[in-house]
Amino acid sequence: MIKWKDDYKIGVEQIDKQHQKLFEIANEAYNLLKNDFCYDKFDQIIQILAELRDYAIYHFQSEENYMLSIGYKGYPLQKAAHDSFVEKLNAVNLDSIDENQNQYILELLDFIINWISDHILGADKLITQSSNR
Ligand SMILES: [Fe+2]
Repeated sequence: MIKWKDDYKIGVEQIDKQHQKLFEIANEAYNLLKNDFCYDKFDQIIQILAELRDYAIYHFQSEENYMLSIGYKGYPLQKAAHDSFVEKLNAVNLDSIDENQNQYILELLDFIINWISDHILGADKLITQSSNR
């Protein structure tokens, strides 16, 4: 699990808070997945995964609005990256995940949090570099 760190801050409070929230939701799912004492946790995990997807969609929208508001040149590329990630998330049928799929959920969570982490460090950080406006 990748933990939130201040390196992820891009310097826009609203966006930084949303990024942090994405990590928090993912962390919640990880913790539940690892909790062997929690009986019947899969419904909850599926619910958290859906929440993570919905929050990511909400966050992308607000990040895109911010990019447009400052006339960010990299907007089209960012928008395309967001759209293709959301498409991937939507292609995952959460309802079909049953209790034997611990490993599947772990890999899915790793994929999501790695993508978000790489995207923040590689793409979102550029938004606040003045040369890109
Ligand atoms: Fe972002």
